[in-house]
Amino acid sequence: MRSATLLTVSAALVTSALAGSYARTEHIAGAGFYNAFEFQAIPDPTNGRVNYVDQATAQRTNLTFASASPDKFVLRADASTVLSDAGALGRNSVRIRSRNTYATHVAVFDVAHMPQACGTWPAIWETDEESWPNGGEIDIVEGVNDQGANAVTLHTSAGCTMPAARTQTGTAGDQLNCDTALGDAGCGVDLSSTRPATYGPAFNAAGGGWYAIERTPAFINVWFWPRSAGDVPADVKAGGGRVDTATWGTPAANFPDTSCDIAKLFTAHNIIINLTFCGDWAGTQDLYAGAGCPATCISYVDANPTAFTNAYFEFNAINIYK
Ligand SMILES: *[C@@H]1O[C@H](CO)[C@@H](O)[C@H](O)[C@H]1NC(C)=O
Ligand SMILES: *[C@@H]1O[C@H](CO)[C@@H](O)[C@H](O)[C@H]1NC(C)=O
Repeated sequence: MRSATLLTVSAALVTSALAGSYARTEHIAGAGFYNAFEFQAIPDPTNGRVNYVDQATAQRTNLTFASASPDKFVLRADASTVLSDAGALGRNSVRIRSRNTYATHVAVFDVAHMPQACGTWPAIWETDEESWPNGGEIDIVEGVNDQGANAVTLHTSAGCTMPAARTQTGTAGDQLNCDTALGDAGCGVDLSSTRPATYGPAFNAAGGGWYAIERTPAFINVWFWPRSAGDVPADVKAGGGRVDTATWGTPAANFPDTSCDIAKLFTAHNIIINLTFCGDWAGTQDLYAGAGCPATCISYVDANPTAFTNAYFEFNAINIYK
């Protein structure tokens, strides 16, 4: 009996020592983005003023650009064409989706720059488009019209609610029910209480930073560290072979499985990175004007290509751990 007890105890120690420890399975950087992601030249499901181009067009027109030493992958919108055809789909831009899918995983997004300009609606998110909303959606970075702070948000089918009080540095939004049937809001966590530079121009002025997600069947956590923060974990900064999330401190956003069956409501997800304009969110006129943006969203996006010079993502790397 005694040795059985010891065995149980040591098994528990091993489990707790491993909780949070992950090994790298993918290092996506530079031209590696072209292997890891497919380009989606599809109509924008959110009615944006955008024309998503295919990979050949993106590379030919430099809407995507990859370099090595240092590794860099840029994904941008067209910043040189005046759109004079009201019937056109919109400004050329890019939407990419990972070829691999991920259930339990850690992903660290080392982002040097995110799109900024009136009318922009960029996103870094994870979902299973084929079964949406039944497979769930996790919005890691998303916003419109340069307005921070970032909100990390889940969208699910029925039966997923978040507790108001959680171990996180961000602030839960008013809606705690993640069900898409209740509207587009989802259950979000606002990061404004965490750091000043979580989104848009402020994020870029700070040199960007790291967003990281840890998803398990029991919880989804998201962290954010600006580039020169004093508390960036060494393993995040290094982007090396292992990370240990147990050493990362309190997450910015925490979504526990207390009253949300994460294992059932979240299927394996693709990572999607997209940059659209106007549409159902950024183009809502009171939000657009309220952000201090000129004219109407579509007229501005059509007529002012050079306003979109800074409408680009620049990634140093995405590292995936399992
Ligand atoms: C872009 O990302 C957001 C996720 O935050 C999604 O709701 C929207 O449908 C996406 N737009 C396009 C055009 O893919
Ligand atoms: C393509 O974009 C990259 C990244 O912004 C830039 O450094 C490069 O000069 C561009 N190339 C051309 C031909 O414009």
